[in-house]
Formats: sequence, structure tokens, C-alpha cells
Amino acid sequence: MSFITRRRAVDQRPAAQGDHELAPTLRWPHLVALGVGAIVGTGIYTLTGVGAGLAGPGVILSFAIAGVVCMLAALCYAEMASLMPHAGSAYSYSYAGMGELVAWVIGWSLILEYTVVCSAVAVGWSGYAQGFLEARGLVLPPGLASGLLTGEAGGFINLPAVLITLAVAGVLLIGVRESANANIALVVLKLAALAAFVVLTLPAFDPARFSPFLPFGFAAHTGPDGAPQGVMAAAALIFFAFYGFDAISTAAEEAKNPGRDLTLGIIGSMVACAVIYMAVAAAALGASPWQAFSKSDEPLAFILRSGGHELAAVLIAAAAVIALPTVIMAFMFGQSRVFFAMARDGLLPRGLARVSPRGAPVRVTLFTAILASVIAGAAPLKLIAELANAGTLAAFVATALSMMILRMQRPDLPRPFRTPLWWIVGPLAAAGCLYLFWSLPALTRWLFLGWNLVGLAVYLAWSRRHSVLAGN
Ligand code: ALA
Repeated sequence: MSFITRRRAVDQRPAAQGDHELAPTLRWPHLVALGVGAIVGTGIYTLTGVGAGLAGPGVILSFAIAGVVCMLAALCYAEMASLMPHAGSAYSYSYAGMGELVAWVIGWSLILEYTVVCSAVAVGWSGYAQGFLEARGLVLPPGLASGLLTGEAGGFINLPAVLITLAVAGVLLIGVRESANANIALVVLKLAALAAFVVLTLPAFDPARFSPFLPFGFAAHTGPDGAPQGVMAAAALIFFAFYGFDAISTAAEEAKNPGRDLTLGIIGSMVACAVIYMAVAAAALGASPWQAFSKSDEPLAFILRSGGHELAAVLIAAAAVIALPTVIMAFMFGQSRVFFAMARDGLLPRGLARVSPRGAPVRVTLFTAILASVIAGAAPLKLIAELANAGTLAAFVATALSMMILRMQRPDLPRPFRTPLWWIVGPLAAAGCLYLFWSLPALTRWLFLGWNLVGLAVYLAWSRRHSVLAGN
């Protein structure tokens, strides 16, 4: 069989391999917490503002579109995760559905996604951390407050973003179980802060702030300043806020009861987040002019402050500072599982995926932390988040296609979770993700292509020959 088309069998359990084996320690509350912990982050806390700058009040439509597309993709994920509870997520599904070359491209895209999500969340975290410090009279010098590529006057390195990335890596190296338990408490805090935001801003709700509703139109187009705008441009960015449930599926091998636990984890966390986001976005738009909060690095705190809720603004910043790192943690966790799956298949060096006696994948975590902190230290949030979206959208399309291909070719396989109306949901998920991908700025699409050309070179030069399916 050619290296391009060789596929891994769906029901082929990977052989136990000593120090490459992961322990099944996670139950469904851990997985829902891991899901919500990974989903609710910089997207709602910070990109709500950036998105409003691209679409005006129509950003509420952007939330709805991105949420629906993500939900359709989540249904495909849930089926694939319950069918193949192996570490590796979309990479493993593509290997079974579409063969090694597509799987490689998706695995390589996931490495990009998981790394830059960590960077994006770190930059979002830094915005709230700096706001929090400023409220106490502590202002960072411009050279340490923002990165060289952000265009901010005097910006050199976003030091808080670098520090939080490295700190989370340190926590993760202590071990999975401890991190998952602490995660539950932090998720509760993060959601309580959003609920408080909605309650406090509702009295100031003014429907007149929703007019004109679509100042920049619907389809993504280049605005007068050369940057993309419109509801779809915002949707392609806001999409960032909705994903993270895929990080749960990469933990499938560590779930005690993958069929039930994964379904509850993925669908439950996705629905909960969609409801919360619509409430927060509507409350934000109704309480403050979008022209004002869209320019803030900490829009939710800004809105509370301008509504006279000084203490609440400090508290929401504190909640973001304490709880946003759960997102970084979940994606670093997911990254190590993708490496693990790719190394186990022989496509990446096995030494990279080795886990310590405490179950922590030391080398991958260090690799991700260093790369993510360099990007977070230098680049602007919007660019990083859009790049993460490109990798995620590619993985979502591949998952929807793999789900459909396997339904047609292997209808006999046991599927603890079955995507309802798969012949509608699958094509809509793939088409929706492709439309969002197309709505990303051209620069993002080029960067994504460049990353995958490098990946293809690595594959042809090394991975193709070391693949387990090639007889290694
Ligand atoms: N959905 C995650 C966030 O918004 C990546 O931070």
C-alpha cells in the first residue's frame, strides 16, 4: 500500500509499550471540567472586544455562527472519540478514515493549534493581569508590556504572557491527576465571574446600542484600514472562543469509561459554553458602546469599570488571572497526547513522547512551553488566535470527513455515541468550517500553508520511512 493511502485500522488497539502507556485515571466530571476549562478563556474574556471591533453589534451573529459550526463539529468529534478512544484526537481519526498523509497534515496542524492557543491565551491573560496590577498602581514599562510585533509604542516583550506560559508548564509537569482536580475549582471560579458580569451589567442594558446592527456588513471583506471586517471576519476570529472540547478527546485513553464519559464531556461542555457566551456577549453589547470596549485589552473589566462597578472590575480581572491558565493547561495537555499518538505510530521520534514515572510527558511539555512563550512574547493576540483557528478548522473538517467515510465503509463498528442525522450534520460541519477558514485573513491562510509545507518536508524526509505501518 502506498504511504499516502495506508490507513490504521479503527479497532486496532495500540500495543502496550511500557513507559509509553497512559493510565486511565479520569472520570467524566474531570472531562467536563477539562472541557469547560479548555473552552472558556481568552475567546470570551478578550476576543469579544476585538470581534465587536470587526462586526459592531453584529458580533452577536458571529457568536451564533461560530457556535453552531463548532457544535456540529463537536457531534462528529463525539462519535469519533467514542469509536476510537485513543490518544491523538483528529489526527488518529484521520489516520483511520483518510490515511497516513492526511493524518500527518492534521497532526502537524494540531501541533500548531495547541502551541498557539497557549500563546493566545497567555496574551489574553496578560491583558487582565496588567489591568489588575494597574488598579494597584503598578504599571509595567512599555518594553515589558507588549510584544515587538504588536505595533504598540515601545513594545518589546510581553513578559507576563511569557511567565504564565512557563508557570503552567511547571504545574503540568507535577502530574495529570493533581492538575485535573485543581482544574475543577478554577472552572467554577471562571464561570462565576462571567455570571456576575451578566447580572451586574443587565440594569444598564440599552437596546439602542444594537443599532446600527451591521455597520460593517456580513461577508468578510477588507476594510478601509486594510484589515478584514464584517460578521464573518468576526466569526472566523470568535470561533476561537468555542473550541477546546477537542482537548478532551485527546484524553480519551485516560478516561475510565470512554463511551459515556467522553460523550458527556464533549457535548455537555459545548452546550454549557454556547449558552454562557450568548448571555455575556449580549450583556456586553447592551451595557457599553462597542466602539469603546472593542479597543480594550480587558474588555469585560473595562465595561464593568465604565458602569461604575470598580470592585467588580477588579474581581473579574482577578478571576481571569487565576482561572484563564486552565485553558493553557488543557491545551498543553492535549499537545502532549498528540505527540504521544504520532510518536507511537512512528511519525515522530519516540523519545519525544516519553513520560516520566509520574505520568508527565516532560519533553513535549517543555517544547510546547518554550515555543508558545516565544510567540506569546512577541506577537499580537488577533494574529495568534486566527492562526490557532486555521489549524483547528483543518482538524474539524478532517474529523467530519473521517466520521462520514467510516460510516459508509464500516457501518458495522460499535459506536457508543452516534452523530444524529450524520449525513446532514457531517457535510454541514465540514462546509461551515471551510467557510470560516475562508473568512480568515489571507496572511493567516498563508502562514498556515507555510507551516504545513514545512510539515510535508519533515514527513517526506523522515516520518514516511519511520512509520509503524511501513513495517518499523
Ligand atoms: N476556547 C479557548 C479560549 O477561548 C481556546 O480561550
